[in-house]
Amino acid sequence: MANIVIVGTQWGDEGKGKIVDFFTHYADVVVRFQGGNNAGHTLVVDGVKTILHLIPSGVLHSKKICVIGNGVVIDPKVLCSEILTLKKAGYLKRAKALRISHLANLILPYHQRIDQLREAAKGDLKIGTTGRGIGPCYEDKVARRGIRMADFVRPEIFEKRLEDVLPERNAYLEKVLGGQPFSVKELLKEYLPLADTLRGYVEDVGETVLHQKKKQHILFEGAQGTSLDVDHGTYPYVTSSNTVAGFASCGSGLGPTQIHQVVGVAKAYTTRVGSGPFPTELGEETGQYLREKGGEYGSTTGRPRRCGWLDLVVIRHAMKVNGLTSLVLTKLDVLSGLKKIKLGVAYRLDGKRLNTVPATVEDLERVEPVYQEVPGWREDLTGVTKWRQLPTAARRYVERIQDLLGVGITSVSIGPSRQQHIVLKNPFK
Ligand code: GDP
Ligand code: IMO
Ligand code: MG
Repeated sequence: MANIVIVGTQWGDEGKGKIVDFFTHYADVVVRFQGGNNAGHTLVVDGVKTILHLIPSGVLHSKKICVIGNGVVIDPKVLCSEILTLKKAGYLKRAKALRISHLANLILPYHQRIDQLREAAKGDLKIGTTGRGIGPCYEDKVARRGIRMADFVRPEIFEKRLEDVLPERNAYLEKVLGGQPFSVKELLKEYLPLADTLRGYVEDVGETVLHQKKKQHILFEGAQGTSLDVDHGTYPYVTSSNTVAGFASCGSGLGPTQIHQVVGVAKAYTTRVGSGPFPTELGEETGQYLREKGGEYGSTTGRPRRCGWLDLVVIRHAMKVNGLTSLVLTKLDVLSGLKKIKLGVAYRLDGKRLNTVPATVEDLERVEPVYQEVPGWREDLTGVTKWRQLPTAARRYVERIQDLLGVGITSVSIGPSRQQHIVLKNPFK
């Protein structure tokens, strides 16, 4: 038995969805454990592109069970429409292919309105959130005024909860943010039909799936990335959940002794969406080259992603706080055609060399990356199927990263499709 967590090691969009889809073949259950529809995970199977925001990236495999764990925040509108789209495309046909934790918190329209009004009020200081209400929903959870799936699917309890929490949320919306309030009546009218759609999926997933005695392989799918983690990321320019592997346990209800491996996903360069420090960010010319070649536009918001060289300080940090047992390198193909490639190996701050990420954004904004330059390659990698078919310079690039980090790179992804993936060592075997 192997229960494996797959997490992003940078600022999100590392290609986690593609990697999870690939390894789902070896798993029985795939679990999302944090985040919400701020995530956008892209899968390309048989030439068809699917972008998932809430449902685990295992869903395109018909025999697997997908679980949305308690640590996820669920926008019922988005979930219902994702279920519908997948069903139309011929997925989610089997009964009980998708299970939703009864403990997951609900994103309601007041969360989105608060998120958007706050961002607008912050002007230049905005976080650049996805505007999906993620932060305000996690705040309500921790403030013990959240509404959970178990409440939602019981109309009388849902109504009672709304009556309890809405007056305070409305006061905040109107008096602090100058926004419009919501009424319990309008929310019930809009959301009770959604509760009817979701009721059959909501259960105690610990009992029904995760704590089964039978042997099963569980794959945990991280969303966002380590540098967006609310504790370990570039605070305050982070998301509002813990994105690190340890949270797979809290966000699903499976104890840490039941997790056996942690696989980090790293893009062969770096991207970031939204505001916040980004030491290896590239200027216009090469940045634009990577953006266009790599299709670096947000899967959720469509925003252009900021692009830069691979930052090994950031990945080293991710190795530590996640306890990575191996690394998967994605989008190596995007680097083809560059004469020279730079690797950020350390930072320099006030004349001193730093090997770790400083805690304040003020310092992180001032660091100068220390680069090593390596030769690029011209060849197109997207048709390569074996490690030894890669051009020497591409292999050297991967080996150099592996040596500098001291972690095994166990697969290399060289295109968006499921097949465009060279596996050197399968964590399930
Ligand atoms: P996630 O949020 O980590 O799942 O990543 P996204 O799906 O938001 O962004 C990754 C993008 O890169 C998607 O458009 C993928 O289809 C694409 N992708 C994934 N792996 C590769 C790869 O190895 N090469 C190329 N060219 N594209 C890839
Ligand atoms: P996946 O799972 C990249 C970023 C937002 C913003 C910050 C806070 O596809 O890798 P939020 O809406 O979460 O409060 O926004 O986090 N962000 C992501 N960036 N990929 C994601 O998810 C992200 N989810 C949130 O751009 O900077
Ligand atoms: Mg994404």
